[in-house]
Amino acid sequence: MNFDLAQLAPAGFTIIVGAAWCTVFVLYFVAAPYGRHDRPGWGPGVPQRIAWLLMELPSLAAFLAGWLSNGLPKNPLSWALGLVWTIHYGHRTFLYPLLLRPRPGATMKLLLVLMAVVFNVMNGGLNGLFLAQALRPEWDLAATVGLSIAALGFASNLKADATLRALRRENTGYQIPQGGLYRWVSCPNYLSELVEWTGFAIAAASPFGWSFAIFTAANLVPRAVASHHWYRTTFLDYPTERRAIIPYVL
Ligand SMILES: NC(=O)c1ccc[n+]([C@@H]2O[C@H](COP(=O)([O-])OP(=O)(O)OC[C@H]3O[C@@H](n4cnc5c(N)ncnc54)[C@H](OP(=O)(O)O)[C@@H]3O)[C@@H](O)[C@H]2O)c1
Repeated sequence: MNFDLAQLAPAGFTIIVGAAWCTVFVLYFVAAPYGRHDRPGWGPGVPQRIAWLLMELPSLAAFLAGWLSNGLPKNPLSWALGLVWTIHYGHRTFLYPLLLRPRPGATMKLLLVLMAVVFNVMNGGLNGLFLAQALRPEWDLAATVGLSIAALGFASNLKADATLRALRRENTGYQIPQGGLYRWVSCPNYLSELVEWTGFAIAAASPFGWSFAIFTAANLVPRAVASHHWYRTTFLDYPTERRAIIPYVL
């Protein structure tokens, strides 16, 4: 099946930006029920490792289907952006669930998994199709700057997630993470994820790169605020200078 980006673009962009607005509005009132904010009443759960695989595989598969829909790219910028996506989602789909140290019995709500699958198919597919059908041919300053920012965000996201995993080596509950960007914010994994996709959007100069960066902010900023509040009310000795997601600001 061959999809024409020009036909899909207006609806796709509107849906993703609309989803971002709905997400930020809903998450302002209700923390997404997983991890430390999990609670009963949201339907059945899926074991966390399987949930991550099910949620993230569609993003990888839909992106690859779109990106390679015209065969192997000849444009070096397309290769670089394709690798960013493939490495990020290859890691998130296969390696992250294997490395994860879930709390005993912890699950992810099936409802959240299904919502993520729908979003990821659309978002991955549109970003892949853009690279195949509409990416500019030249490698310019925006490409170098954006890809550097994306690489920095990716590396920093890996480090922040690894710090949390290390805490679970000693204890199956929650502790105060220390070191690295945790000196300044409670959720550096989210901050880094946001930096990564902003870098991708700058390099791709694509409406779908930007709509994804906007959605990531809409999803992760309210969650960081909720988690920061949770840390402060759970640990009386929580560092007072630490912010939720933006050092010194929020
Ligand atoms: N692009 C997007 O929109 C998007 C959306 C969601 C997630 N992500 C990315 O996916 C990754 C995971 O997200 P997440 O929301 O699951 O992150 P998270 O809430 O920080 O949790 C990550 C892992 O660390 C554990 N953990 C968290 N805080 C801990 C603490 N203080 N002590 C010990 N263990 C702790 C969690 O256990 P519990 O599960 O038991 O809490 C979970 O296993 C992140 O890198 C994030 O950036 C991206």
